[in-house]
Amino acid sequence: EKSGYASFMLKEIAEQPKAVADTLLGRIDGSGTLSLDEVRIPAAVLREVDKVVVVACGTAFHAGLIAKYAIEHWTRIPCEVELASEFRYRDPILDQQTLVVAISQSGETMDTLMALRHAREQGARVLAICNTNGSTIPRESDAVLYTHAGPEVAVASTKAFLTQLVACYLVALYLGQVRGTKYGDEIGDVVRDLSGISGVVERVLETMDPVRELARSLAHKNTVLFLGRHVGHPVALEGALKLKELAYMHAEGFAAGELKHGPIALIEEDLPVVVVVPSPRGRSVLHDKIVSNIQEIRARGARTVVIAEEGDEAVVPYADHLVRIPATPTLLQPLVATVPLQVFACELATARGNEVDQPRNLAKSVTVE
Ligand code: M6R
Repeated sequence: EKSGYASFMLKEIAEQPKAVADTLLGRIDGSGTLSLDEVRIPAAVLREVDKVVVVACGTAFHAGLIAKYAIEHWTRIPCEVELASEFRYRDPILDQQTLVVAISQSGETMDTLMALRHAREQGARVLAICNTNGSTIPRESDAVLYTHAGPEVAVASTKAFLTQLVACYLVALYLGQVRGTKYGDEIGDVVRDLSGISGVVERVLETMDPVRELARSLAHKNTVLFLGRHVGHPVALEGALKLKELAYMHAEGFAAGELKHGPIALIEEDLPVVVVVPSPRGRSVLHDKIVSNIQEIRARGARTVVIAEEGDEAVVPYADHLVRIPATPTLLQPLVATVPLQVFACELATARGNEVDQPRNLAKSVTVE
C-alpha cells in the first residue's frame, strides 16, 4: 500500500499535488465562479454572517490560523481562531449570525466535536471542513466542505493540511463572492492562481533533495527554531509541530516580530533557525522586516535556513542554507512554504532512526478529551 515509498508519510507528501487538485475539482468553473453546492447554508444566511470563528486542533488549527488572514482580507468579516479544547470552556460569545468553521481531517476529534456542539447550542451555524466522509463532525454540522486528500495513514498530517488550506481559501472566496465584497478583481486573480497551484506544489517537490541533505546534517541537534510573519507564522508553527511529532526534538515556532520581545535570547552559536520569508512583491514591508530579523539572528550565531521566493536576492547574503520556493500570491504561500518543512521533519526523523508513520505516544485520531 505504500506504493514503493519507504513510509506512508513520504507517499502522502508526494500525493499533495493530486490532493490539492482533487479538492479544487468541480468547485471553480471556467469563469472563475465558485460553486460550493455542498455548503447548504443559504446565501442569504451567509450574507448576514457578522463573525467567523474557526475551531480545530493541532495541524488543523494551523490551517485555521491561515484562514483568518484570507477571510478577513477577502470578506472583511472579523474572524477568530481558537483551539477547540480552549474554546468550549471559555464561554464564547456566539449567535445565529456567527459562522463556526470546524476543521478536522478525521472528523472524530473529540475536542473539535465538543466545540461544535457547544457552538450549535448557542445558535451558531457550523460548517465542517473534513477529510472523512460520513464521520461524526460533518454529521453534526449544518454543512460540510469535504477535502479530497484521500485516506491519510501517517499520524503526522501532510496532504490533509494542504487540502484544509485549499478548503479554507474556497470558503473565504465563496463568502466574498456571496457577499459581493469589493475585492472582486483580486479574487479573480487569486482564483486563477489557486486553480494552478497543484502544479506549483509539484515543482516544489521536485527540488527537495537539498532539504533532505540539510535535514540529515542537522539530525544530531537538540533544538530547531522556526520564524515567520503574517501567514508565514502559522507555517512556522506547523514546521515546529512536525519536528516535535516526528523527530522528538525541541522545536518552536515564533512570529518573527516577537524576536526582540524574548525569543532572541535563545539564539546561540550554530542554532538552526528556519525562516519563512514573505514575498518581496506585495507586502514588501514584511519582507524587509524579516530580512533584518535574519540579519539579527545570524549576527548572534544562528545557522539560518531561509525559505524564500525564487528571485528574492535580498536574503542571499544572510542565508547559510537557502531553500527556493516558486513565487505565489502572499496569502497562498503556505501551500508551497509548508512542503519543505514536511520533508525536513520526515527526513530528520528518519535519520534519527524514528518510525515516521507511527510516532511514539501519538494516535491518528484523538477521540478523547
Ligand atoms: O483529525 P483532526 O484533523 O481533527 O486532528 C487534529 C490533530 O490531532 C492533528 O492535526 C494532529 O495535530 C496531527 N498529528 C498533526 O500532524
